[in-house]
Amino acid sequence: VSVDVAAYMKERAAAVDAALDRFLPAESVRPERLHTAMRYSVFAGGKRLRPVLVIAGAEAVGGRMDDVMPTACAMEMIHTYSLVHDDLPCMDDDDLRRGRATVHKAFDEPTALLVGDGLQSLAFRHLLAAGDPRAAPLASLLAHNAWRMVQGQALDMDAQGRALTESEVLELMAGKTGALITAAVVGGAIAASGSPSGLEPVGQRLGLAFQIADDLLDLTGDAATLGKRVGKDQAAGKATLPALVGVDEARRRADTACDEALAALAPLGAPAEALRALARFVVTRKR
Ligand code: IPE
Ligand code: IPE
Ligand code: MG
Ligand code: MG
Ligand code: MG
Repeated sequence: VSVDVAAYMKERAAAVDAALDRFLPAESVRPERLHTAMRYSVFAGGKRLRPVLVIAGAEAVGGRMDDVMPTACAMEMIHTYSLVHDDLPCMDDDDLRRGRATVHKAFDEPTALLVGDGLQSLAFRHLLAAGDPRAAPLASLLAHNAWRMVQGQALDMDAQGRALTESEVLELMAGKTGALITAAVVGGAIAASGSPSGLEPVGQRLGLAFQIADDLLDLTGDAATLGKRVGKDQAAGKATLPALVGVDEARRRADTACDEALAALAPLGAPAEALRALARFVVTRKR
């Protein structure tokens, strides 16, 4: 069984979009500006990798997409919140995201701050409102990893213009990106009432591979395809793996992390085929 990853992602992303659309407040509801900006950031054409990983994680343990949709949506809301705040002038100061002006540019800074805050709160409300017996462990998993993401972002900001050791860079990446990606893969299995055993290292390897690919795309990609500016990490003095070990070695590390994820998935057999396809996508993607 081989999975057409583009078709797989497109189909699941459409289901996630429909669920997010049902859940997020309408633009016409007060405060309209906040709700409009919230929808502007969520429906801007992100890849939906984290919710798709939730679904693939569920499928890997025999679960169904419909049962894990609140978890999938909560992950995407936390992720989008992290992007809106990451782009603020006080952080990475970006003006382009998901192919359009960043929220603080299209609206204003207070709105961007509140969009992030609001998406975070709504993510947990959504997860807990579903009345699912697994809601508490899932909320705990998400809270833990959203917190680790914040710690990673703190390390990222603190490292700007400073030389980090390789283990410090890996710690930073595991926090700012690896945590939510791990939560997505593991959370998918938990939300599907399956066992997450063996999936945590898969998420960690995918998270590392994903952030190395992100750092490489900042060096080698183009803004039109990525929907965000390129060449910014070097200019900002960001601590990235390519900056530390070079482009070729960083690419090898991403491939190795992908191979390790695939090896960890081997015991799961055919139901994990989508996760395998997503692991390959993470290191071959152009956006
Ligand atoms: C970008 O994430 C931020 C990182 C963690 C590197 P994505 O590349 O998944 O962004 P979207 O959701 O597709 O916009
Ligand atoms: C962002 O890392 C990680 C989070 C938003 C948590 P980056 O700063 O490298 O992400 P991009 O390149 O702006 O998408
Ligand atoms: Mg950043
Ligand atoms: Mg950034
Ligand atoms: Mg980046």
